[in-house]
Amino acid sequence: MYEHASYVLSPARQLTDAENALIWKKPTSHKDSEEEKRIYNEVKRNWHRGEMKIANILLEGDAGSGKTQLAKALSADFGLPYTKVTCFADMDKTDIIGAILPVIPSDRLEQIKSVDLEVMKALYENDGFRSMTEILMDVLGVTQEQASLKMKQILKLAAENSDGDGVEYRFYPSEIVRAYRKGYLLEIQEPTVIRDAAVLMALNSALELDGSINLPTEIVHRHEDFIAVITTNRSYAGTRPLNEALRDRVQHTEKMDLPSKEIMIARAFAKTGYTDEKALEVLADSIIILDQTARANAIKGVAGMRSYFYWADAVAVGASVRESLYHKVIYKITTDTEEIKILEDALARQGLPDRMNELENEKKNEHRKPLRSGHGET
Ligand SMILES: Nc1ncnc2c1ncn2[C@@H]1O[C@H](COP(=O)(O)OP(=O)(O)O)[C@@H](O)[C@H]1O
Ligand SMILES: [Mg+2]
Repeated sequence: MYEHASYVLSPARQLTDAENALIWKKPTSHKDSEEEKRIYNEVKRNWHRGEMKIANILLEGDAGSGKTQLAKALSADFGLPYTKVTCFADMDKTDIIGAILPVIPSDRLEQIKSVDLEVMKALYENDGFRSMTEILMDVLGVTQEQASLKMKQILKLAAENSDGDGVEYRFYPSEIVRAYRKGYLLEIQEPTVIRDAAVLMALNSALELDGSINLPTEIVHRHEDFIAVITTNRSYAGTRPLNEALRDRVQHTEKMDLPSKEIMIARAFAKTGYTDEKALEVLADSIIILDQTARANAIKGVAGMRSYFYWADAVAVGASVRESLYHKVIYKITTDTEEIKILEDALARQGLPDRMNELENEKKNEHRKPLRSGHGET
């Protein structure tokens, strides 16, 4: 059975205010899914069963199918702070472990460019709660990947300006290490893109249930509440399959596809505020057929939830159903003429163009209907 009350993994554990703020709060639009209930029950069932513990989870499937939201929902269900790492191709060991930053003497600090100086100060003033990339993302307003690049520049700069004796060093653990040591729920997004095998191996050994990470300053052991949720898009152009060894570390996997039509409609309704159920149904049926057809014909693009949301939103504000189909859905899948033809034929076989026209006419008639006079009934 699934209860909505959350299950606290380690009841004796005290979280700080900052940690409490990282626990995801389910918005009213959130719908508990079958996948969420299943994972919740599985984790709970095995939590005190030693080696059978389930704490590495893989969510693999379509973009927009709800993987990230599911990871966040588990943070709410288990009362664990949520944090994430977005992987990128050039990730190296400092991105996995963290970085050692020499403290530049103040007389040298004056010679440093103002932007970098600002960054340095932010880093030196930090209490050690946050990772270096996270601080950089904040100060500079950049992505995780850009922050990582900047981190490497800063490390170089600091090294060049701090030679000599008596240099003080500070270690900034990565977001991964922080979650690992403190027992958070960490979403690891798309580790398939990482090119360096050594980096994948470091990640892999950290994911052992009784694993540890060797830092230059200490050995960090896996906190008993640490949960890793790997999220990855399947059959997405340009991505490799998930590394076998990493896959092997996972104790529970969910295949995330386009949700059922009912759930698609409910989510679109919650997200866009569009209440025309008939229209949402026609659009959902079209997306489902396009998704199946694209797969069956090895067309690379995806017709998923995101296209569905944007299409529904365009139709809601009065865009033509058939025209916006191209701009919000089909061209996102492919702009190849032959492939477009395949998709169009599939829709036609299921009578969807007629249903779209019918919708269009209804919408037009609604607009033409004379406004009811303000007298009488309301
Ligand atoms: N359980 C859910 N209930 C309601 N809406 C959801 C749910 N899961 C996902 N969504 C909606 O779908 C969108 C895409 O989900 P997301 O988790 O970002 O997908 P993914 O990580 O698989 O690409 C979210 O912004 C959210 O609005
Ligand atoms: Mg995601």
